[in-house]
Amino acid sequence: MRNSLRTALRAGAIALAGAMLALGSAAVPAQAAPAGPDPVEGPNPVVGGTPAAQGEFPWIVRLSMGCGGAMYTPSLVLTAAHCVGATGNNTSITATWGVVDLQDPSRTTRTSNYVYRAPGYNGNGKDWALIRLSSPITAAPLLKIATDTSLHSGNFQVMGWGAATEGGGQQRYLLKAQVPFITDAQCQGAGGSYSGLIFNEEICAGNYTSGGVDTCQGDSGGPMVKRNASNEWIQIGIVSWGIGCARPQNPGVYSEVRYFSTDIYNAAVSLGGAPGGVSVTGPGNQSTVVGTAVTLNSTASGGTSPYSWSASGLPAGTSINSSTGQITGTPSAAGTYTVTVTATDSASKTGTASFTWTVNPVGSCGAVTNGADVSIPDNNTTGVYSNITIGGCTGNGGIGSKVEVHIVHTYKGDLIVDLVAPDGSVYNLHNRSGGSTDNIDTVYTVNLSTEVKNGTWRLRARDAASVDTGYINSWTLTL
Ligand code: ARG
Repeated sequence: MRNSLRTALRAGAIALAGAMLALGSAAVPAQAAPAGPDPVEGPNPVVGGTPAAQGEFPWIVRLSMGCGGAMYTPSLVLTAAHCVGATGNNTSITATWGVVDLQDPSRTTRTSNYVYRAPGYNGNGKDWALIRLSSPITAAPLLKIATDTSLHSGNFQVMGWGAATEGGGQQRYLLKAQVPFITDAQCQGAGGSYSGLIFNEEICAGNYTSGGVDTCQGDSGGPMVKRNASNEWIQIGIVSWGIGCARPQNPGVYSEVRYFSTDIYNAAVSLGGAPGGVSVTGPGNQSTVVGTAVTLNSTASGGTSPYSWSASGLPAGTSINSSTGQITGTPSAAGTYTVTVTATDSASKTGTASFTWTVNPVGSCGAVTNGADVSIPDNNTTGVYSNITIGGCTGNGGIGSKVEVHIVHTYKGDLIVDLVAPDGSVYNLHNRSGGSTDNIDTVYTVNLSTEVKNGTWRLRARDAASVDTGYINSWTLTL
């Protein structure tokens, strides 16, 4: 991305000799490049590729910002730093897995909940990032990453849904191609931006002399792989940048995965689990009340079961069952608790999940807030919930009870939002009005005079259309 010149595509030029794969992405730092000279006749802008078969690259992922990625653990996608924003909570990315056709109804999608961008990334080298999904894709085979240079030779396999020609559009069907290894010295010798090649952090590939095959805009973040002696796919590179696509003497540049392998592994541990380890899905954020018994479940996958469970940060009066992971008990002190649940497998590998647990005082019969974020997956008609438990209050809600809702979302017209009373009665608050307006920040007045105050109240958010996503930021119930 550093310098990709955008060249005008000559129409019609040699249609792809096969199919091709170029990927491009809107999100990438595709610079509005200086208008370079238009290429002259010739096959330069064709990125030669062919369609991949369903299941051929079972760890490949398409990311909604227009990049590729690969499954590193069931919950983590390895991609390029230039495809993402800063490290932190991020519910804006949708990952699509399990299909070569992005419109295949059998595709699996997940929303992100966190982005980890390589520390020190500044647009030059260090072009890697991990995206954590809101729930694991347990069916996905994982792609191992190189830890040494032993496979840095011969041909590599690349694939993606990016542009099939320089300046071309994104693809619906996954394309693949083979690109030969190019030494750092030869790559640097291409001059221009290539003079700044960072030998340890970047690796080049392509037909140096003749071009013709390459990744392209929208392939960024996707893997460059090669089979090892055991016939397993190993990730050697991450699509990073190039000048144009498939031009002679302008090879594709990839992040050199082996150089970052320890950093990537350690980042994964900090995000909840490394490959081959255990990953844990916690119960999600909670808002309960002092003196009311609770039961919260977590699940673990990966590693070697059985798991033994422990937890830190639990409210007094509660504990975790070391063999089932279930948290039970009756919180005895109000407060906001950050709870981390850990599962340890029989080989001593661990996975963790954290959640925020607000324990409200007994008799909080006025306004009660649940301020923990809950991400709303795209096109999700099951709905996600944010709960508030009320205890120690007498009688029913008022005619003019208030429900203050704050949802961050890029398309209000996608959303259906309901209040679900402790007895299951549903009060619709918002039903897809507002079109493309962002966010819901509204106080709804609801007649709750037939509902007893005590019990667990739930705010349900559903997303009835594809593309935009968001999260429940907070909500306040005043009975
Ligand atoms: N930066 C591009 C992207 O965001 C990838 C470019 C790869 N270019 C190349 N010629 N190999 O999709």
